Order: sequence, then C-alpha cells, then structure tokens
Amino acid sequence: MNSEQWSQRYREREYEHGREANLFLRREFATHAPSGRALDLACGEGRNAVWLAQQGWAVEAVDFCTLALERARELGRQRGVAVMWVEADLQRFEPAPGRFQLVVIAYLHLPGHERRGLLTRAARALARDGELFMVGHAVRNLSDGIGGPRDPTVLWNAAEIATELRDLGLVVDRAEEVARPYEGDDSGAEAVDVLLRARCGVRQTRC
Ligand SMILES: C[S@@+](CC[C@H](N)C(=O)[O-])C[C@H]1O[C@@H](n2cnc3c(N)ncnc32)[C@H](O)[C@@H]1O
Repeated sequence: MNSEQWSQRYREREYEHGREANLFLRREFATHAPSGRALDLACGEGRNAVWLAQQGWAVEAVDFCTLALERARELGRQRGVAVMWVEADLQRFEPAPGRFQLVVIAYLHLPGHERRGLLTRAARALARDGELFMVGHAVRNLSDGIGGPRDPTVLWNAAEIATELRDLGLVVDRAEEVARPYEGDDSGAEAVDVLLRARCGVRQTRC
C-alpha cells in the first residue's frame, strides 16, 4: 500500500491499532531499563513510539503517512512526551548509522525485497549494544488466525526473517510465533504474530 492508500485507511478510522502500545512490546520492554535512543520504523499513529518515550527512551519515529503522524503527535501531546516525528518513505529513509539502542518494526508488511532492504538499513542503525525488536502478522495467521493482510507474500515467517537477520550479522535471540488476543471484537479469537529480537553480533562491523 502506498501513502495515499494508508491515508485513506486512517481517514476511515482513528487510532485503528489503538492508543496503547503493542502487547509484546510492552511485555518485553516494560521492565527493561531504557538505555538511550529508540527508532520506530513505520510508527503509524504513534502508540509504540509514545509508550517508549513514556518509558524514558529518546524516540525518533518514522512513517510516510501525514495523517498518521498528525495523530501520533496528538497522542504524544496528550501523554506529555516528546518524540521526533519524521515523515519519510522507508524505502529511501537512511537512519543515522550506529545511533540507536533499540529499533522497532511493528506490523510493517512489505514484499520480501523491500523488507530485506529495510532490515539492512535497520541493522546499520543499531549501536554496538543495540537491539532490533520486530512484531508482525505471521503467514499462518491466514489459516489459523484473524485480521491482518491477506496477501501471503507480505506476511512473516519467523525462520525466514531470522535467516535474513543472521545474514546481516545480527545475533537472533528470539524468532517465534506468538498468539495475540484479537482486539477487533470480543469473540476471544487470537491472531498469530511473529516476534523477533536480534542484536549486534561480532560480524556486524557497523554496530
Ligand atoms: C499496520 S500500520 C502499523 C503502525 C504501527 N507500527 C503500529 O504498530 O501501530 C503500518 C504503517 O506502515 C506505514 N508504512 C507502510 N509503508 C511505508 C513506507 N514505505 N514508508 C513509511 N511508512 C510506511 C503506514 O503508513 C502505516 O502507518
């Protein structure tokens, strides 16, 4: 989807992914002492970036959708935190190399070659002690889950993405499917997500 299609979607529904940060990000980082700069790639309406800023991270957050960023700014104002919001297309955006202790990619579903390009730039952005946190819809969500994109070519496979991260020299600590209670209704249904955590390894010379 291009930025106009995303704008259309955000016009139809405000804070469509909610105002609260992603369940897994909260679970994994609530007790993690903030340790510097975080970068949220494809931040949407800002729920994750704002939550990280509330935890004490210095956050930069990028999206190509103007309307989403306006809502993100408003959420930040409401929560009393400052985030550096950047309007840019992630196919071209080059984060500062070696700058971030945490890079987050949440529910960004790109064709494989675009994803690999983005992961290369995300890995480069990590500081030596930096970590990449990713969460997105699994391919298996199509058969066993609910919600999310229906195009299998953009959905995530944990083992495949873990291999891409290792090829970039990162050490992969987590690469697994996780069940997330579906927020769209009260049916009790679960979505199947993929969660990955990776950090700089000795082969990642830029870290
Ligand atoms: C499903 S939303 C997820 C938003 C946010 N990460 C979250 O978890 O709430 C995907 C976001 O990716 C953004 N996006 C998609 N392709 C992009 C690109 N090439 N450059 C920048 N943003 C992009 C869209 O504008 C949208 O806000």
